[in-house]
Amino acid sequence: MFDHEREVIEEKIKVFCTENDIPLTSIEWKPLPFSGEWGISTSFFQAAANEARSGKKVNVPQRAQEIAEGVREHLGTPEGFSRVEAVKGYLNLYFSTAEYARRVVETVLRDKADFGRGAPKGERVMVEYAQPNTHHSFHIGHYRNAILGESLARLVEFAGFETIRASYPGDIGLGVITVLWIYDKFYKGQEPEGIHERGQWLLKLYVEATQLLEPKEDETPEARAQREAYDAERREMLRKWDAGDPYVRELWLRTREWSLEELRAILEMLDIHIDVWFYESEVDEPAKEIVEELIARGIAEDERPEGPVIVRIDEKLGLKKEKYRTAVILRSDGTTLYLTKDLALAKIKFEKYGVDRSIYVVDTRQSLHFQQVFKILELWGFPQAEKCYHLGYGFVSLPEGAMSARRGRVVLFKDVADEAVRRVLSVESEKSPDLSEEERRAVAQKIGLGALAYAMLSVDNNKDTVFDMDAALSFEGRTGPYIQNAHVRAASILRKAGPLAGRATSRTPDFDYNLTPHEIRLIDLISRFPATVEQAAQEYRPLVMATYAYDLATAFHSFYHAVPVLQAEEEGIRLARLALVAAAKQTIANALRLLVIHAPEVM
Ligand code: ARG
Repeated sequence: MFDHEREVIEEKIKVFCTENDIPLTSIEWKPLPFSGEWGISTSFFQAAANEARSGKKVNVPQRAQEIAEGVREHLGTPEGFSRVEAVKGYLNLYFSTAEYARRVVETVLRDKADFGRGAPKGERVMVEYAQPNTHHSFHIGHYRNAILGESLARLVEFAGFETIRASYPGDIGLGVITVLWIYDKFYKGQEPEGIHERGQWLLKLYVEATQLLEPKEDETPEARAQREAYDAERREMLRKWDAGDPYVRELWLRTREWSLEELRAILEMLDIHIDVWFYESEVDEPAKEIVEELIARGIAEDERPEGPVIVRIDEKLGLKKEKYRTAVILRSDGTTLYLTKDLALAKIKFEKYGVDRSIYVVDTRQSLHFQQVFKILELWGFPQAEKCYHLGYGFVSLPEGAMSARRGRVVLFKDVADEAVRRVLSVESEKSPDLSEEERRAVAQKIGLGALAYAMLSVDNNKDTVFDMDAALSFEGRTGPYIQNAHVRAASILRKAGPLAGRATSRTPDFDYNLTPHEIRLIDLISRFPATVEQAAQEYRPLVMATYAYDLATAFHSFYHAVPVLQAEEEGIRLARLALVAAAKQTIANALRLLVIHAPEVM
């Protein structure tokens, strides 16, 4: 916001240092914590230390202070600042409070939805998420994944990275074949109506098949023979799939489409738009070629026919202690593994899509797997390996207990979302009888889904979490609706203000009056939004933004309760506060968007 002033000052500091032979390496600014005034600060310890290193006899802290004082004299009081001081080797520049407040509010009102957007970073990021296995249904754990990934994608994109959203469904494997087998044997030709019903049905088939194929205690010899016969059929199906048998392949593609259709419908509902779809089945062939390449380059060791093809990662990296272990990349029967396919996939991401940074949003339990993948990519010579990142996430359970797909104890996302919207709707109907049925529905959808999204993003991604619907839907505490409600309150003040709101936001706001602590806190938080975007994006942590949004909403709610806006005595103050309300509303909306949450005008 003060980029221009900062640049002018930096220029002056550089001139001063050159003239005085001071070996300045760089100038880093930090915001000063608010203490009645806002300001920025930089220090000269580095410069003093550089002098010491070059052989001059200097006392570093003392010399840093000397330089700071010299700079202060050289600068005088630059435009936009109220005073400059040199303390303990630091140079502190203070803004006049009214000027700072004006800049902050003016910037938000000018940039609107772009407020907080970072300058282009010149790097391309791929975020891979929303990649459940097919022939299964979308459960609450998949939802956590999808929301984390989408929030992260929005964050890095907004921070200035060119961003590609990718998915990579696991569309083949024994689980998939198990569903194909039971479908073909007992349900051929059947097909439930409805996208969600059809997708969910596949999960039911999977559960049923697992029961038929699982060894039981006290099994009679007949039952055992039956089960073994079923298993043989399943294995035969897998063999046929591998051999490209047209019947099995057609059955596979058709049922796979049922899952994908359900997935697409859910992503649409969550406002998630994937750019590139990769499938596990498609990287199997490339994976086989990679194995040969890695053997030829001496990275992998071929122990066939007695053993598999392996990469001794620790040994290759020269590590004494066991860390990444030894990874198998081809079984002795010539089949590839999950890991091998990930190597092939990474190569495609780097080479075909020109990806500089590659992020994988996947269950934390796959942590070792990704460490191995990234290290093999490094051994293979991909410079991007360093910028690969596994964003892990923990398990989601409901107070009722844990899930188990094999047992059919799965919490389907669709059920949870429907229930959340239903509950909001029942409260809504009492609270806002003046809304039309359709509007009420739309609002309830925004609030219900907002509550779910915030419940996922406001906890440490690596930790398991228990999803408590009542807590998530509450208007109090760290919830989506609490933040959305701040936006609604701001909207209602602006609505009530009528034409005055337009006047307030089209003129240069004037904060030349005694600001209350609530206003100061609110302005302070608004001004931190761009830096928060940058931090959340650099650290790949949506939680940083989730926490910020809550703090901002809290600041707004207390401002709302304590500070009169339309009732303020003077018109100048009314206008300034209205502009602040508009800026707060915009910033809350921008923050919510990065959390994949809608900002409603009414609720
Ligand atoms: N489909 C996998 C699963 O459900 C996740 C894929 C993760 N991505 C990857 N590149 N391995 O566990």
